[in-house]
Amino acid sequence: MKTNLSRIGVSLPESLLDRFDEIINKRGYSSRSEGIRDAIRNYITHYEWMGDVHGERVGIVTMVYNHHQRGLVNAIMDIQHEHTDVIESSLHVHIDHDNCLEVVMVQGEGSRVKGLVEQTMALRGVKHVRLITLSLTEGI
Ligand code: NI
Repeated sequence: MKTNLSRIGVSLPESLLDRFDEIINKRGYSSRSEGIRDAIRNYITHYEWMGDVHGERVGIVTMVYNHHQRGLVNAIMDIQHEHTDVIESSLHVHIDHDNCLEVVMVQGEGSRVKGLVEQTMALRGVKHVRLITLSLTEGI
């Protein structure tokens, strides 16, 4: 696929650029431009999630929760059983005596994915929920 490239000039505080350069060096980017392209893609992905999640989506939900919290495991299972239209697969890891990590692979209508995440986040005993999605209708 042919990609048209545009050149842009950006003014940045020196300290911000130093920190950025340090990170892209550590991560092994071949150039500053490649790092900036990646950062912009991440920003767009993040913004699209923070805005309105709708349309066909593919993504992952990660969650950490305390399985000793009364009723929590059942509540999480109930929510997931109500969202079988968007859940493709899941992986459960028992991190330690108290905590479970679950990774849920999702694909389907974004508002349904958002519902799954918001309902899970609202449960007492859930310590961490993150969602990463890509839009299939607006291009990956
Ligand atoms: Ni567990």
